Amino acid sequence: MDYKKQIAQSIVTALEGQVEEQVVYEKVEVPKTSKMGDFAFPTFMLAKTMHKAPQMIATDLVDKINQNDYEKVEAAGPYVNFFMDKSAFSSEILQTVLTEEDHFGDATVGDNGKVPIDMSSPNIAKPISMGHLRSTVIGNALANLLAKTGYQPVKINHLGDWGTQFGKLIEGYKLWGSEEEVKADPINKLLEYYVRFHKEDQEHPELDDEARKWFKKLEEGDEEATKLWEWFRSVSLDSFKQIYDKLGITFDSFKGEAFYNDKMDEVVQILEDKNLLKESQGAEIVDLDKYNLNPALIKKTDGATLYITRDLAAAIYRKRTYDFSQSLYVVGAEQINHFKQLKAVLKEMGFDWSDDIHHVPFGLITLNGKKLSTRSGRVVLLDKVLDDAIDLAKKQIQDKNPDLANADKVAHEVGVGAVIFHDLKNERMNSFDFDLNEVVRFEGETGPYVQYTRARAESILRKAEHQVTTDGLKLADPNAWETLKQLQNYPDTILRAVKEYEPSIIAKYALHLSKSFNQYYANSKVLVKDEQLNARLALVKSVSVVLENALSLLGVQSPEEM
Ligand code: ARG
Repeated sequence: MDYKKQIAQSIVTALEGQVEEQVVYEKVEVPKTSKMGDFAFPTFMLAKTMHKAPQMIATDLVDKINQNDYEKVEAAGPYVNFFMDKSAFSSEILQTVLTEEDHFGDATVGDNGKVPIDMSSPNIAKPISMGHLRSTVIGNALANLLAKTGYQPVKINHLGDWGTQFGKLIEGYKLWGSEEEVKADPINKLLEYYVRFHKEDQEHPELDDEARKWFKKLEEGDEEATKLWEWFRSVSLDSFKQIYDKLGITFDSFKGEAFYNDKMDEVVQILEDKNLLKESQGAEIVDLDKYNLNPALIKKTDGATLYITRDLAAAIYRKRTYDFSQSLYVVGAEQINHFKQLKAVLKEMGFDWSDDIHHVPFGLITLNGKKLSTRSGRVVLLDKVLDDAIDLAKKQIQDKNPDLANADKVAHEVGVGAVIFHDLKNERMNSFDFDLNEVVRFEGETGPYVQYTRARAESILRKAEHQVTTDGLKLADPNAWETLKQLQNYPDTILRAVKEYEPSIIAKYALHLSKSFNQYYANSKVLVKDEQLNARLALVKSVSVVLENALSLLGVQSPEEM
């Protein structure tokens, strides 16, 4: 039941249709504390048309609203506060969760629209780092949220498998590397050449010329360059896949930058036809002055194409392939300008759908307050972070529950889940520091805390030995009220998270629900054989269902026991 709708209807009836229901509906809010009602309607919007002070309108409304539909309706200054009938409310919401289960909160707003999500997209021959973790887990959570609300997400890993860095890498390999060495420890060795290249070219700038030559060769299809490139790409991809497996995240496409090599001529052609290309110091650019942006560099002096040229080709390819309703790019905030330029050039090319492209940016992860960068070699290897998290989880499980069956599997789900949850509970744009000991704690605002709460709910249900039914769901206990309201809020919360591309809304919701449920459980006895037993267990079951669902939207597993 949509209670906001019920309230909007009550108000419209009381006002004898002087306002539109939808307008009222959008103003109905959930007050900060339950003391101010379960829902509230601010009357300011009516003051002008009704020529009355908001306080007056509020008291008048209270007189006219049919009180029988609510536990209580009262005016508080300019607000009308609604207190819902707890028994009716509890039956409704518990009945809904118990019957809809996993599907509770499903929506159809997406109208089956396809949504490519450009996510993860690490660079070949560099280890996947904490920076790419954010893109991977945020992208995956958005895909889950979109699927739940009726869209068809397409998860695309736009691998950084082309660009001048391959010239540097080949040059570095030729100078200092060997086949045996790379075979033994591919990613670390490739990274070593890359880091060394950047160190040595400070004193030997001629190295840069050599690197440029190699990349040029690669773009022209030179056999040796191509072989090395393919080899570097395949060993890198193997190592990325190990991490994706650990995270439990899959992709629908691995079409990286190189895929667009034969699709850029068309881009350049359209730009030429539309007279958008200008020469600037030998390079080809698109002027974006009227967008207040720097010019987009399409071709370098030596004819080499650039990152944005490949992104233009990719955007057009995705529109043709998926006819998307939106196209998302989950990429760090440091690339905000790049995506502004991308959209602006597409717009200039005459593609109206450039408005459906959304960059979903996010902040930096710092490690003990320091920025991470590949060039300096200050990388955190994600693989190592995940393994450490799993070890930490295992230690805590051994302390708390030494006899747990499947302890290794659970430790994996808890450790990896903790890392994912920690990333997602932070608002996207916030930067945050990563401290593993904080991340894997079983108490506080962590993933393990939510998993633990859900496992506890399951254990209560096991102990109860009672088959929960949908008869008798009235729960008048005031201790349960906060939890019931949280449950009722889940569908709305999901819609908000999708609209704002903000998985943290779901993570915070899961924390709230866990907290209110734990408070309920601390203050009320659940396993007493009386006439409300079924209703109480229905609440426990519903919390378990919704927590599991919320965690799964985030890409986090829910162990039955931990
Ligand atoms: N490989 C790039 C990087 O690591 C991210 C690519 C993002 N996607 C895109 N279509 N530009 O910085």
